[in-house]
Amino acid sequence: MNRLGRKFAVTISVCIICIFTFSMLITNYFLPRYYVYRVNQDLNAISKEITSMGYNDFINSVADLEKKYNLTIVYEPISSDEASFNWSLREQLAKKRMTLNKFWVTKETLRDVKSGTRVNKLYDQGKLKSSFLSSFVEKDGLFIVVGVSIVHFHETAYIINTFTLYVLGFAILVLVVLVWVWSRKITSPLQELADVSKNIAMLDFKKAEIRTNDELEELANSINTMSDALKAAHGDLNRKNKNLKRFMSDITHELKTPLSLIKAYSVGIQDGLDDGTYVHTILKQTDNISALLDELLEFSRIEREELHKESFDLVALFQHCLAKHEIEIQLKGTHLAIQKEDKPLWITADRGKIEKVLNNLLSNAIKYTQNKKIGIRFEEKEHEILFTVENGTNIKETEINKIWEPFYVTEASRSKDRSGTGLGLTIVQSILNRHQFDYGVILCEGIIQFYVSFPKRVSSNTKSS
Ligand SMILES: Nc1ncnc2c1ncn2[C@@H]1O[C@H](COP(=O)(O)OP(=O)(O)O)[C@@H](O)[C@H]1O
Ligand SMILES: [Mg+2]
Repeated sequence: MNRLGRKFAVTISVCIICIFTFSMLITNYFLPRYYVYRVNQDLNAISKEITSMGYNDFINSVADLEKKYNLTIVYEPISSDEASFNWSLREQLAKKRMTLNKFWVTKETLRDVKSGTRVNKLYDQGKLKSSFLSSFVEKDGLFIVVGVSIVHFHETAYIINTFTLYVLGFAILVLVVLVWVWSRKITSPLQELADVSKNIAMLDFKKAEIRTNDELEELANSINTMSDALKAAHGDLNRKNKNLKRFMSDITHELKTPLSLIKAYSVGIQDGLDDGTYVHTILKQTDNISALLDELLEFSRIEREELHKESFDLVALFQHCLAKHEIEIQLKGTHLAIQKEDKPLWITADRGKIEKVLNNLLSNAIKYTQNKKIGIRFEEKEHEILFTVENGTNIKETEINKIWEPFYVTEASRSKDRSGTGLGLTIVQSILNRHQFDYGVILCEGIIQFYVSFPKRVSSNTKSS
């Protein structure tokens, strides 16, 4: 039997033994006394009834009374001859099959009875293993003995107790078997839960299959939910860890290239090879490093910072961003088509961070458009505002999903030396992920379209999360 079963069996057995012992003690000590007490009470009640009867009534109803109450009644006129008086009473009792060797009414008893006191006496019937409990009363010169035969209760109690002991032994046997079966039923799911927990501790996110329809099943469900959550968190952590490692190696790579160039051109100057462009190249590479570090700092700040949500007009924010790029658009001769209704479109988000998103998407479109056309659209739907930016591109289908990766710059844009650090879209992605906004990129017939779905504002109050 398992430990739980043993504990149950011992505890319940101790309880049963205590209850049985208690009941045996009661049977042995209190039950006999209570029995005598009850018989005595009955006897007193009958004696009272007899004394209240008329003389003739009593004489006529002796047999009925004996039958009705299952007692023995004998009577004798009170006489001064103690011996013959007692002898007569004994003879009457013997006739009624009550052989009482020690039965003797003393003068004192007689005196007490005559004075109206009821006297009760207990006589042992010797071999018959019973006693005769008698009550003496006086009625119109008659000395009346009302008695009842009572069994020797101690012996009965002994038999009862012996029997109880057998019952106890049997009960404990049944109990042990039941507890054994029951504890196996309880502990096998517990064992399963313990195994699953051990597996989870070793990062093996298993699940328990328990169908007991009770608290154990609830516990198993909770552990399963925990296992799922831990699995997801562990997977997420692993993925982030992997991303971080790749990010670190990318940064190293991104910094190493301009630093090698700076070193090479510095050595060139030292060796007198400078054709007048070396310092310019060194300065350009330092600018690149500086821009990269600025973007990295910005990225880490955005990742770290809390979101401060507020309600604002998305169109107004876009106009504000556009104003900064107006000159660049004109200089490049890019055609910009904006499709929007003439009304504010309210959303709830972190204004500063959404400005960063709009800026990045807009500046990318200006930088990378291949057909000198940019299309901007605001579409109001039931619960969201769909914002899209599109421009002509020669980007390949295979590259499209990589553009969100840190430092990823397409071959086409790299060759034309327009690209930045390759962190712009990574920052956009991070901000939109943190807002849990839907976004994406679609490539269709030489047009690249970035879209963001902004949920409409929930309230105009400033909120922070
Ligand atoms: N609107 C766009 N049209 C064409 N290509 C784009 C557009 N936006 C981004 N890209 C491509 O995705 C790459 C990554 O963009 P981004 O993360 O903003 O980095 P960066 O602008 O610093 O190069 C760009 O180098 C470019 O090749
Ligand atoms: Mg960019």
